[in-house]
Amino acid sequence: MASPLRVVVTRKLPAAVEEALASRYDVLLNRTDIGLSSDQLVQVLQQADVIVPTVTDKFHPGIFDTTGIRTKLLANVGVGVNHIALEAAKRAGIAVTNTPDVLTEDTADIAIALMLMVMRRLGEGERHLRSGAWAGLRPTFMLGRTLRGRTLGIIGYGRIGRAVARAAHAAFGMHVLYHAPRPPRIDDPATDGPAGAERVATLEELLRRSDVVSLHCPATPETRHLINASTLAMMPPHAYLVNTARGDVVDEAALTHALKERQIAGAGLDVFEFEPSVTAELKDMEHVVLLPHLGSATMETRTAMGMRALRNVDAFAAGEALPDRVV
Ligand code: DGY
Repeated sequence: MASPLRVVVTRKLPAAVEEALASRYDVLLNRTDIGLSSDQLVQVLQQADVIVPTVTDKFHPGIFDTTGIRTKLLANVGVGVNHIALEAAKRAGIAVTNTPDVLTEDTADIAIALMLMVMRRLGEGERHLRSGAWAGLRPTFMLGRTLRGRTLGIIGYGRIGRAVARAAHAAFGMHVLYHAPRPPRIDDPATDGPAGAERVATLEELLRRSDVVSLHCPATPETRHLINASTLAMMPPHAYLVNTARGDVVDEAALTHALKERQIAGAGLDVFEFEPSVTAELKDMEHVVLLPHLGSATMETRTAMGMRALRNVDAFAAGEALPDRVV
């Protein structure tokens, strides 16, 4: 019998996933849950048949120049793969898979939560109460803005963007605009955006017409700093920005400046350009909501993501086509 695949898991995963992996393969788990350094990733590439990494593992192009690479599959736990130099992996003969579908709704929920938090001033209100400063209700105290009837501009109309659009339209009657390089490919009508969602031709039109802009595009060289000083200047001063996609899509220095100067009304951020580092300037502003990359962070979804990665490892072990192959 062939010896089982050597699988290295770079971060702690929900117990059910670790148990399932360990029951099938020769698995090395990360009990400490401390992220691996570049040198450690190189060693793992030399030792493992399959690596199960996640967004914190930076597989930059040079890492794939390592000699004696044994790895044939990176079964990433996460839908975003911008932390992996895909072309370099491919050249090194390594396939990459991701975990689409299973995190769509939970991630969309966080985008909606951020809209509510920033527009209704929920983080600020909670901090105020906890500080002991609350003196009771006053009719004009801490007034926020309603989401109802507002225009939501979605950049990137993939599964998550459309789920946000559906929820925002159903719950708050928001009118949806979206900007995407091509019309969405919908396999299942239940995953479509709401009726009446309007595809706009240019990013500028979306930014000028939206009360809330929510980012749902992948991080690629084309989308890096898509939101920058000049695109922020297209947003009206009452508008809000929400980012649950990737930090690199936003030029964080330009956003900080726009927020400080009140060029826009506020921002809700779940991802950061230099994650996990978040600047003191952002932390100091009350009209900014900051979350620690919680988009898909529910037990249900993180388990489903791990199981989806396992499905790819199983296909690889069986010599079958990889269900979620990216390259
Ligand atoms: C993803 O799936 O890419 C999320 O950001 C969490 O990893």
